[in-house]
Amino acid sequence: MSASSECRYKYEECKETADWLLSRISQKPTVAIICGSGLGGLADLLENRTIFPYQDIPHFPKSTVQGHAGQLVFGELRGKQCICMQGRFHFYEGYNITTVTYPVRVFFLLGVEILIVTNAAGGLNPDFNVGDIMIIKDHINMPGFAGQNPLCGPNDDRFGVRFPCMSDAYDKCIAELAREAAEEQGCTSFLRRGVYCMLAGPTFETIAECRALQILGADAVGMSTVPEVVVARHCGLRVFGLSLITNKVVTDYDSKERANHEEVLQTTRMRTQDLQRLVSHLVGKL
Ligand code: HPA
Repeated sequence: MSASSECRYKYEECKETADWLLSRISQKPTVAIICGSGLGGLADLLENRTIFPYQDIPHFPKSTVQGHAGQLVFGELRGKQCICMQGRFHFYEGYNITTVTYPVRVFFLLGVEILIVTNAAGGLNPDFNVGDIMIIKDHINMPGFAGQNPLCGPNDDRFGVRFPCMSDAYDKCIAELAREAAEEQGCTSFLRRGVYCMLAGPTFETIAECRALQILGADAVGMSTVPEVVVARHCGLRVFGLSLITNKVVTDYDSKERANHEEVLQTTRMRTQDLQRLVSHLVGKL
């Protein structure tokens, strides 16, 4: 068995996880939300919650990163049945790329139709400010360039086609609804739109790497989201993504600034309420 196929989950395992969850909830979710670092508070907005710690769910991986609770929260948000993933799996934690995306296939089998992803990201676009919220219009799958695509290996047609299209990965209609929601909430002054680039991490980027990513057309850089979006699109989910710009990347050799996780968490704390309000308002409009 090759290294890349070792951690590949079978359809039957995803189905077992989905059936286990379905037998324990009264209403099927139609919207799934993956909460980024420090953004797990979104799950607290759900009403009539049913909570499953990851370690209790059959076949579910365990979360290792600080600031991630590691549980699935089912409940109602603005009249919609939702499932919130409090704590995601990152490639830099050492998970196989197919493990990172396992929950998305479970969401699909639960009957979820829309996936909302949030993340913390470094701002590459010089016009962006710390605290901006960026609607993801497209992505650059840098690990995919290096052969780390969650769809590598045998294709299971029950999930999707062998060669899925990615030019329409981010749903334009949902993005438009989000813009309306932001307007209604008076938060357009810090709303942006742009391209998210995923790197594997866990190192933050060098100055040369940041400059290269800017030339490639990326507006924000982070260490998550893209594998989940790829798998979601493969199985036909509609996707909407938001990046919270937690820091500005360093592109100047004379700068004394240093990217650090504390700044990421600090900005997240500052904007978490705005982001939660925006997502919940958006869900009400779906
Ligand atoms: N780089 C990569 N990932 C990140 C950053 C960054 O600057 N900020 C938050 N996540």
